[in-house]
Amino acid sequence: MDYEKFIQEQIADIKRTVGGEKAITALSGGVDSAVTTVLGHRALGNRLKTVFIDNALMRQGEPQQVVDTFASLGIRVELVDAQEEFLDALAGLTDPEEKRQAITDTFYSKVFSRIVKESHAKFLLHGTILTDIEETVAGIKRQHNILAQLGIDTRQSYGYSVIEPLKTLRKDDVREVAKALDLPAEIYQRIPFPGPALATRIVGEVTRERLATVRKATAIVEQELGDSGAFQYMAVLLNDRATGIRNNKREFGRIIVIRCIESTDARTAAATELSWEKLHHICSRIVSEIPDVNRCLYDLTPKPPATIEYI
Ligand code: XMP
Repeated sequence: MDYEKFIQEQIADIKRTVGGEKAITALSGGVDSAVTTVLGHRALGNRLKTVFIDNALMRQGEPQQVVDTFASLGIRVELVDAQEEFLDALAGLTDPEEKRQAITDTFYSKVFSRIVKESHAKFLLHGTILTDIEETVAGIKRQHNILAQLGIDTRQSYGYSVIEPLKTLRKDDVREVAKALDLPAEIYQRIPFPGPALATRIVGEVTRERLATVRKATAIVEQELGDSGAFQYMAVLLNDRATGIRNNKREFGRIIVIRCIESTDARTAAATELSWEKLHHICSRIVSEIPDVNRCLYDLTPKPPATIEYI
């Protein structure tokens, strides 16, 4: 595939479609939305408004990191604090699909639709890729960025038309386009991270306090396994508690699962054979650096029957 040609075609196409109007795009931190934003910026300059919505579910320092990375590329990103709205929508929910739905609804019906209205943008640039469309149409997974393919008329429902410059590409091609656009390696080599973010790594209710626990554990796992070469690695907070003993006092603490997998396309996966030494080190960091966690497990389950994420 000729990536330079693809880039020039998409830029021309975005210019032609948007005409003299304004467009908007939302970054997620991932490679798809990053590439879409850079294409849109090259086509439209400051007629493209770029936002990053802080949904309270991101990893440690992630919102500011995204803003800084794009600032270094000359692209201004507006950080929108919508933490309370997402946490309110998630309060009391424990069912995985209900949690996912609450995040999608809050994003589209509340936060994003308000931002689009205020911006007077007539077009939305979306980072949909071919796999998102295929999986949604096949009913494998409800990707939160699929609308038109489900028969939702965005112009009628939300007042904007959707442009999807990457909808013919798969992930490996998107990474190549990112390289051809000179995006930093931290963007195109980033391990997969799901749209519903840390909520997919909390079994049970998502609260500010539980997010703080899984966020700390995630930071430790990512620091320790960053050079593992694994396809994906994560920390998960379970809904149970277990008895422990610390400083001669009994406690009923939280349980963190470490998951690290090998995969090529995320359709199947196998647990990585990490060394005992590495596992002990991660476990000891987690139970000593996160006060309410007193137990740490390593997940050996392949996909199938397990999925990669926990919700
Ligand atoms: P599962 O858990 O279904 O995950 O085995 C397969 C791959 O997809 C990622 N994932 C998501 N990515 N939005 C995304 O953009 C989502 O809602 C979502 N859910 C799971 C997951 O991290 C893994 O790489």
